[in-house]
Amino acid sequence: GLKKKEVHVLCLGLDNSGKTTIINKLKPSNAQTQDIVPTIGFSIEKFKTSSLSFTVFDMSGQGKYRDLWEHYYKEGQAIIFVIDSSDKLRMVVAKEELDTLLNHPDIKHRRLPILFFANKMDLRDAVSSVKVSQLLSLENIKDKPWHICASDALKGEGLQEGVDWLQGQMQ
Ligand code: GTP
Ligand code: MG
Repeated sequence: GLKKKEVHVLCLGLDNSGKTTIINKLKPSNAQTQDIVPTIGFSIEKFKTSSLSFTVFDMSGQGKYRDLWEHYYKEGQAIIFVIDSSDKLRMVVAKEELDTLLNHPDIKHRRLPILFFANKMDLRDAVSSVKVSQLLSLENIKDKPWHICASDALKGEGLQEGVDWLQGQMQ
């Protein structure tokens, strides 16, 4: 049969934002795990869409592991950046990490697509995806295609829209 094009994607964002939960939901149901624990270091995951075969570097967002992220930047052809929309206290930390990422020499001058998930939309404290994009100043990203989706990774809502956009960017 036809071999799907393989793409490498980095999944980044603070600890507890829902990265592993999102990646897990994108796998076929028989490959999903039930118990998701905080990622140690990183984990390599795979899932397929209609035309692409994704290899995802699901990085730990814990402070002590964030220094690992940059070692994989050269490998990444796209970024999925996950935000806990209900964590207003740490939104500024998420912005700092995003700004550091965008200014990194291995990222800065590349036209990498960035998919943002404003995750945990189901929580009462969650702010809208428009508000998240304002708090992260996403309008300042002018040299890379980006897209933000509101998501509820527990129910799987919003994930398909995001991945469809990413697939469109990577054909
Ligand atoms: P690290 O691996 O530590 O960087 O965290 P992570 O970003 O991979 O987060 P993880 O997927 O482990 O999820 C953290 C917690 O948030 C878990 O208890 C998830 O069940 C929960 N969670 C993830 N997505 C959602 C969501 O959309 N809504 C709600 N209410 N909880 C979520
Ligand atoms: Mg994780």
